[in-house]
Amino acid sequence: MERINAVITGVGGYVPDYVLTNDELSKMVDTNDEWIMTRIGVKERHILNEEGLGTSYLARKAARQLMRRTGVNPDDIDLVVVSTSTPDYQFPSIASILCDKLGLKNAFAFDFSAACCGFLYLMETAANFIRSGRYKKIIIVGADKMSSIVDYSDRATCPIFGDGAGAFLMEGTTEDVGVMDSILRTDGKGLPFLHLKAGGSVCPASYFTVDNHWHYIYQEGRTVFKYAVSYMSDVSAAIAEKNHLDKDTINWVVPHQANMRIIEAVAHRLDVPHEKVLINIDRYGNTSAGTLPLCIWDFEDKLKKGDNIIFTAFGAGFTYGAVYVKWGYDGKKQEA
Ligand code: UT7
Repeated sequence: MERINAVITGVGGYVPDYVLTNDELSKMVDTNDEWIMTRIGVKERHILNEEGLGTSYLARKAARQLMRRTGVNPDDIDLVVVSTSTPDYQFPSIASILCDKLGLKNAFAFDFSAACCGFLYLMETAANFIRSGRYKKIIIVGADKMSSIVDYSDRATCPIFGDGAGAFLMEGTTEDVGVMDSILRTDGKGLPFLHLKAGGSVCPASYFTVDNHWHYIYQEGRTVFKYAVSYMSDVSAAIAEKNHLDKDTINWVVPHQANMRIIEAVAHRLDVPHEKVLINIDRYGNTSAGTLPLCIWDFEDKLKKGDNIIFTAFGAGFTYGAVYVKWGYDGKKQEA
């Protein structure tokens, strides 16, 4: 029997209209554009500020665009998986809401939690459903409304994050393209350094948790930074070596967009020039599970069939890894 590969056959994305600039942030906390640009590399981020709209709205917009662009029949979708750290509700899942909003009659659906590394894990997870031969068309979505868990009085975290979503369609192929390899890891020691203290089963919401800002991201930035640099660099180098890829044969590196200095460290370790690294952190900030698909969404027209792409990410947990993809189609300039 011929081997089935899992290939990405389309991409959709969405960022909300409202743009929060560094200058505006400087009026909210003691910061400035120069510090944010030098230490993080974010110029502006998009924020979903309409009341009553959550992450499923971002996910739905991205998935709708994906379906429009690919022309896929909603009845043919077997599975929808959404990676997020900011679900609309504790339950039901965003993926279940999408089934309704997108009119998917024959799919099952669930959410997936691996923080900023979620979409990376999701590519390999969806690929295995496809490789099994049982599932033919899968929509995977990385979506986060980070503004719902960012403390806009904490200058150390609020400049980093933005809201957004990206989606891929994954299908089976017997061609030698698609998700070729992955190295995924979780070291589990990250909890003290990056978490959201309250609202879960350990510490449900109370007046105390609200008064003490425990429903916002807690991050020990310097420690997280060090782990992110070393884990993302090491695992990217490892997957390149394992697949005999080098600076000439790697066409693109797609790193999680958490900090420009982390991105540069990964590129340096792989020895690839700046032009081969897909970067949009300056415009969107860290959209958590959204960063990887939003990068492909932004730069899709540059991609050619057969291009070797290394995706890498790092997130709370600590979760991290790298996925090697051989791109499946020639990208073209798309209408929004
Ligand atoms: O995606 C999930 C994974 N997360 C990450 O990858 C994030 C990793 N960490 C980082 O990106 C960086 O550590 C931060 C961007 C969070 C912080 O940058 P840093 O260079 O590590 O700064 P720092 O925390 O060491 O702070 C340096 C100084 C401090 O002042 P003092 O103590 O040296 O006087 C901070 O108080 O910068 C100060 N500072 C600021 N100054 C102006 C912190 N935030 C700001 C700010 N504006 N927004």
